[in-house]
This record gives sequence, C-alpha cells and structure tokens, in this order.
Amino acid sequence: MTERSAKGAATAMWGGHFEGGQDALLEAINASIDFDRRFYAEDVAGSKAHCAMLVRQGILSEDDGDAIREGLDRVLAEIEAGDFRFDRALEDIHLNIESRLTDLIGDAGKRLHTARSRNDQVATDFRLWTRAAIDRLDGHLKALQAALIDRADAHAGTVMPGFTHLQPAQPVTFGHHLLAYVEMIGRDRGRLTDARRRLNECPLGAAALAGTSFPIDRAQTAEALGFDRPMANSMDAVSDRDFVLETLAAGAILATHLSRLAEEMVVWSSAGFGFVKLSDAFTTGSSIMPQKRNPDAAELVRGKCGRVIGSLISLLVTMKGLSLAYSKDMQEDKEPLFDAVDTLEITVRAMTGMVGDMAVNEERMLAMAGVGYTNATDLADWLVRAAGVPFREAHGITGRVVRLAEKRGCALDALSVEDMRSVDPRITGAVFDVLGVEQSVASRTSLGGTAPERVREAVATARARFL
Ligand code: ARG
Repeated sequence: MTERSAKGAATAMWGGHFEGGQDALLEAINASIDFDRRFYAEDVAGSKAHCAMLVRQGILSEDDGDAIREGLDRVLAEIEAGDFRFDRALEDIHLNIESRLTDLIGDAGKRLHTARSRNDQVATDFRLWTRAAIDRLDGHLKALQAALIDRADAHAGTVMPGFTHLQPAQPVTFGHHLLAYVEMIGRDRGRLTDARRRLNECPLGAAALAGTSFPIDRAQTAEALGFDRPMANSMDAVSDRDFVLETLAAGAILATHLSRLAEEMVVWSSAGFGFVKLSDAFTTGSSIMPQKRNPDAAELVRGKCGRVIGSLISLLVTMKGLSLAYSKDMQEDKEPLFDAVDTLEITVRAMTGMVGDMAVNEERMLAMAGVGYTNATDLADWLVRAAGVPFREAHGITGRVVRLAEKRGCALDALSVEDMRSVDPRITGAVFDVLGVEQSVASRTSLGGTAPERVREAVATARARFL
C-alpha cells in the first residue's frame, strides 16, 4: 500500500463528492502537467476566446470578462518568465492555469469554466498546437526542398551511376536523383497540409460530450481561434484524435523518406563510393581511429525514423477500441506527437544542413557511372532503333555481348566492333555513338527522364511548385 493523502489540489477543483484521499500513485499515473505544459499558450488563447464569447452572449458579465482576460495575461506572463509554479497535484495544464487564475482574480476565475469541459478544452488546445507544428514543419521542409533544388540545379549535368537493388543499373544525373527527393518531400508537405485542413475545426463548446445548455456561440470561438468552423458533432469533437494520427502518419512517411536519403548519404560518403564528402559540421571523428569521418548526423536521421513510426503505432494502439466519448487513455496522445514533431524538426533541419554542405566528387561519380555495364540498355535500345531488332531479342543479344566483355574483363565500349559482330552481325561501328555515359543520360529525354535538359526544366518547375 502506498500513502493516501488528504484531499489534494486537483480534488479541490473537481472532488465535491469525494470523501477519501488519493493514493500517491494516482498523482503519478494521472498527472500530465510535465508534458502538456507545452501548450500553455494555446490553453490561454482558448480560454480567452471562450471568455470573450461568454461575455458577448451575456453568460458572463463584462467585469468578470475583463478580470479573466487580464488574469490570463498575467498567468501567461508568469509562465513565459519562468515564474509559474506548475503543480503535479493539479494534474494538467488546464487546472494549473485555472487555479492560478483564481488565485489572482478570485471568483471570476471560477466562472471561466462555464459551458466547457476539459474534454473540449484539451481537444482545442491540442489542435491549435498541432496546427502550429505542421506550419513549422512545412517551413523546414520547404527549406530542405530549396537546398535539394539548388544542388540539383548545379548538378543537372553531373553523371553518376543509377542503381536498382543497389546494383549499377543505368547512368543518371545527380540532379535528377536529388529531385526525386524533392518530389517525395512535396508529397509529404501535401499530406501534412491535408491533415491541417481536416484538423482545422473547433471542438470548443462540445463541453464534456453532449454540448451545453448555455446559449453559447461556437462559430465565434471557432473564428477567434482561426478555425474554419466548429466541429459538427459534440461527441466526435471530444473523442476524435484522427488529427494526431494523420499528422503522425504523414510524419512517419516523411521520416521514412528522410531515412532513405540519410542512407544514401551514408553510402555515398563511404570510401567505396566516395561520391560525396560530408562536411565537418555534420560528421564526427573516432576516439581511436584518427582517419575516421563518421556520418553520425545521417545515421541518426536514419535511426530516428524508428521513434516516429513508433509514435504512430503507439497512438493507433491507444485509440483502438476506445468507446465514445472521452476516455483518459487519450491523454496518452500528447507525448508521441511531441516526440515525433521534435524528431522531425531536428532531422529535417539536419538533413538540410547536410545537403547544403556536402562536397560532390563529380569525377568519382563519372568514373563509376559506366562501371557494371550500365550502358547495356543503350546497346539494346540501339539494336531496336538502328537495326530493327525486337526489344526482347535485343535484350538477349546485349546479354551475350555483356558476357563477352565480362570474359575479356573490359567495358562494353572497349570491345571491338568485330567482337560485337561475332555476337550479332547487325551491330555496326555506329553503336559506339550511344555507349558513352554522357550520351546515355543525354538520350533519356522522355518526360520525367534524367537528360540534363529535362533536369534543368524540372528544377525550374520545382522552384515554381514548391518554393
Ligand atoms: N489532461 C487531460 C487530457 O490530456 C485533459 C482532459 C481531462 N478530462 C477529464 N475528463 N478528466 O486528456
């Protein structure tokens, strides 16, 4: 058995019909103030909007309204100055602020909670916080796209090997490769913007779950807080955490994208590849191996993906099977989102730094672009185009030419035309015009293709679409 206290601070707020004290463990399991204090500003803003509406509707007197508004400003100033004493016994940010308000202004403070509940209050606060988080994240993502687009612009004609299965596939341009991430992040921004649009409805006025008998005006509070409209159903308003789940889902996909780019940074900066050198600013040394330059920041962007996905899964499991309306389980919605947003902000910004800083080794990329018979498709395409060979047959012929080159230990274009003709007599010397990696990328002019001219257009389009 643990200690049983006399009636505590929170019970003073809601414990009229309670006789016994609380177990000390209740405070430990119940208090959310250690984390929900993060949306103190949203809580004050929500209270101000609620109070102004109550006054306008004649539910509160002007005098009480003035006292509450001024009191809330003082509370806000105390919190921002670090002078506010957060009390775990007061459970959460809502009761902490209301209790301090009442200390400051007396009875008027006790009138603020008319026609609302912590259930609609927390839903409102958290929506406001999430909305601001999405807006911040969108700004960081835009900056990452800008960094990628700038590098893509500079490297529209830089030839590198393109891979499938991490095996050399066909030459591509580095700019094209980077623009792939610009597209991915563009969709991430779209998903977050979508989530933002759906979350921008106001739960305030749903009260505990059923609405209220007071003549409130929910449109007023919705508008004052920048929401598009009040939520339509009071039970949904206090029960819905889709907005957190959607944000986390979009965040998890974003984190997955970042982890792929991070992995490429790790691979590209490895000695075997040597395509890029990450800057001192984003690498670390080893305490024992003096030569080391470890891509820690990239590895952590890759690694932190796990916790963002974990946050999504954690809240999905929490929400699963919850009956309507509010249940305290839902207090578990906050820490996963806070952690995910913090993680995404730092990983996106670190990635932006790495992209902007990395030194690109164009010679090395070019040298590797032709390794591994990456021009084999160009030979097959030439057979189709110049010799009228059906593609499937051209594929087989090219495979045999590759086998011959492998046997000789040389590149395709290092074979003689006689060697090639020994495989298929339709091959002529003209084939050498298409076998260089530069020609290869230049030829891929189809829409969305890797040809430098296409990449330059894509850079311009991406600037217009995203920046
Ligand atoms: N701290 C609570 C939460 O975050 C606020 C809502 C509490 N509502 C209640 N009926 N106990 O969910």
